[in-house]
Amino acid sequence: LTLHNPTTISMPEARRRELAEVCRHHDLAVLEDDVYGFLNETPLPALAGMLPERGFYLSSTSKAFAPGLRLGYVHAPMRDIHRVVAAMRISTFMAPPLMAAIASQWIRNGTGDRLAAEKRQVAAARNPIVRDILGAPSLGTELHANPASLHCWLTLPEGWRADEFAAAAQRAGVGVTPAAAFVVPSSLPSPEAIRLCVGTAAAPAILTQALRTLAGLLSTTPGAYLSVV
Ligand SMILES: Cc1ncc(COP(=O)(O)O)c(C=O)c1O
Repeated sequence: LTLHNPTTISMPEARRRELAEVCRHHDLAVLEDDVYGFLNETPLPALAGMLPERGFYLSSTSKAFAPGLRLGYVHAPMRDIHRVVAAMRISTFMAPPLMAAIASQWIRNGTGDRLAAEKRQVAAARNPIVRDILGAPSLGTELHANPASLHCWLTLPEGWRADEFAAAAQRAGVGVTPAAAFVVPSSLPSPEAIRLCVGTAAAPAILTQALRTLAGLLSTTPGAYLSVV
């Protein structure tokens, strides 16, 4: 619901309240994956928090702290906690205790807050770079980029297919993900769009270079990169 991966869309608070009413009315459970919620300086209210009797709120350390710290958290209604514990037992048995110890220490001593703030700074500093290079009207793209997000969603100009573009970008040394990778089931049609990761490049200069490569590709004819034999 917040900074959706890959589209970067966030559901506004009023819509969340309407959805909460619908879930209550129809006695539905809600699983809310909020791994990117921390990217907003002021968090949006969680849908699960509006439905304490049926909301399961999920988060993890991999986005806010570090990708290698593999620890998930779930806040569940009291009456369902035994089911969460049972599901965990038959899947992973337990959270890795050493990782849990590190995460707990980082939460307590402020390291976690500092790491999360660094991610927010990266998003704030890099989104304008993406907008300047890939949002140029002359490219014919449509850029969806929430300034707080670590992803961007780019609708390609007429003529480019997303898979062709991703392959051409790969050949030019830049990895992007075509929309089809996110469509479930994969037999459904997907838009001609790609997802860009804003935070992955080790330095802003590398991101800038990669974006210029993409802009260069976008201003060429797709056919020039494909030869069908
Ligand atoms: C929206 C969303 N939820 C969950 C995950 C997975 O999180 P974790 O790294 O904790 O497994 C991802 C990973 O990309 C994600 O984008």
